[in-house]
Amino acid sequence: GLRKKEVNVLCLGLDNSGKTTIINQLKPSNTQAQEIVPTIGFNIEKFKSSSLSFTVFDMSGQSRYRNLWEHYYKESHAIIFVIDSGDKLRMVVAKEELDTLLNHEDIRCKKIPVLFFANKIDLRDAMSSVKVSQMLCLENIKDKPWHICASNAIKGEGLQEGLDWLQGKFL
Ligand code: GTP
Ligand code: MG
Repeated sequence: GLRKKEVNVLCLGLDNSGKTTIINQLKPSNTQAQEIVPTIGFNIEKFKSSSLSFTVFDMSGQSRYRNLWEHYYKESHAIIFVIDSGDKLRMVVAKEELDTLLNHEDIRCKKIPVLFFANKIDLRDAMSSVKVSQMLCLENIKDKPWHICASNAIKGEGLQEGLDWLQGKFL
């Protein structure tokens, strides 16, 4: 039959934002991990949507590993950037990392879609996705399609909406 189109996705964001939890939820339930641990370096995960075959580079967000991110910019077709909506203190750090990413020579010139998850919206003092979007100045991104979804990765809420948007960019 027809092979599904292959899409390489780079999953980025600060440590503890929920990247691995999100990717785990998107995998078929029989391959999901029962326990999520902080990522060391990165993990490669695969899952399919109705029309696409995704290969995800789930990077560690710990500062000591963030220098690994740029090695995967060239081969990525899309970026998922995850933010902990409850982590007000580190929102400026998330913005710094996002700006560094968007200004990188291997990303700057590419019109690749960027999907943001404003994750952990279940936390009592979580910021809204509109607020997160304002704090990260997302409206300044003019040269790439982007979209932000509020999510609760533990319950799996908001993830499908994001994936549907991303898939639409490749159809
Ligand atoms: P690194 O691999 O260190 O970069 O972290 P990560 O971004 O992969 O985060 P990870 O998925 O390991 O999740 C970090 C912690 O946040 C775990 O304890 C998760 O259970 C928790 N977590 C993830 N998503 C949510 C969410 O939507 N709500 C809440 N309350 N906790 C979450
Ligand atoms: Mg992780």
